[in-house]
Amino acid sequence: MSVEQVGVGIAGMGAVVPEVVVTNRDLEARMDTSDEWIRNKIGIVERRWARDDQAMTDLAIPAARQAIAQAGIDPLEIELIIVAGSNHDYLMPATACLVQAAIGADNAGALDIKNACSGFVYALGAGAAFVQNRTADTVLVIGAEIHSKIIDRNDRTMAPFFGDGAGAVVLRRTRPGTGILASFFGADGYNADAIIVPAGGSRRPVDAEALEENAHLCRMDGKRVKTFIQRVFPYAIEQACRRAGYEVRDLDFVISHQANLHLIREGMENMGLPMSKTLTMLEWLGNSGAASVPTVLKAAVDEGRIRPGSLVALAGYGAGLAYGANVMRWPDAADFLP
Ligand SMILES: CC(C)(COP(=O)(O)OP(=O)(O)OC[C@H]1O[C@@H](n2cnc3c(N)ncnc32)[C@H](O)[C@@H]1OP(=O)(O)O)[C@@H](O)C(=O)NCCC(=O)NCCS
Repeated sequence: MSVEQVGVGIAGMGAVVPEVVVTNRDLEARMDTSDEWIRNKIGIVERRWARDDQAMTDLAIPAARQAIAQAGIDPLEIELIIVAGSNHDYLMPATACLVQAAIGADNAGALDIKNACSGFVYALGAGAAFVQNRTADTVLVIGAEIHSKIIDRNDRTMAPFFGDGAGAVVLRRTRPGTGILASFFGADGYNADAIIVPAGGSRRPVDAEALEENAHLCRMDGKRVKTFIQRVFPYAIEQACRRAGYEVRDLDFVISHQANLHLIREGMENMGLPMSKTLTMLEWLGNSGAASVPTVLKAAVDEGRIRPGSLVALAGYGAGLAYGANVMRWPDAADFLP
């Protein structure tokens, strides 16, 4: 079998949501907002925030362990770990190194991807390419986020939107024509300031003045981001479908990043796809960044809405402003190569 023909499938999945539930009513008590506004504008009812003592790896590691168990592999078989998300445990070292040690993946390389809400689709596309070019036969891909520690929890333009979480998948070689068929990546760096944490990097280290201005926390121009989402959610899926040799109408299921229920509805309608071909969880989880796509994907597979043979598109979009999509033919157990 030639290298080009090998497919790359998801052999196991895991997802972890933190236990602290923050309802719209809780937010009403903290800021000038209302349950009605949040439901009408974003579609979120409650979100989940990590405990104060939890960092990204506290969610990512248990999600990874679930995925490894479901794939039925030994951690020593993993040859590469990719972790996507924005608020990692540390500025350095890479979170993937911390995961590697925690799960005992002694034969794995480790790589972080800093793209936020599009991070998982980028990591999945990158992981698939590494499997296809034989850099690694088994790759662990994690999307994780701790938004609750980079937002002002009393800011009505930020707190209602965001939640925390982690999702993980194990990638392995499959028969040609199954698994991830194509990925598409795009970016609009001209609007990089539309979602930004201004201080804490080399541009502006955190000092007393930055703390005073809350410049170490995330800021978002919601209307600009909305216009971006309206454009790129259908566009990324169309482009990934085209690369895979399909039309959008061929899709059996779509997993979108979970930013705004109304924008997901609008995007599905613009693509000519019914809402029955997608699943949303932001109502209960909020926007959990790079964790959102793998979390919803796992739920859709667990519920039997994605089955072997289903043609599935995943779409991610957010800070950067970066976006992307993957198209995959969901593999059967028999499609995985030894
Ligand atoms: C932010 C968003 C909900 C605003 O909705 P909109 O229909 O675009 O704009 P609207 O004019 O109706 O709402 C904005 C107004 O609501 C107010 N507002 C913002 N947050 C609010 C809240 N939590 N409660 C009540 N009012 C709020 C703003 O102050 C603004 O008022 P102003 O125009 O007087 O300044 C919408 O643009 C959006 O969802 N953007 C995408 C954000 C996102 O998903 N980001 C993450 C991407 S990964």
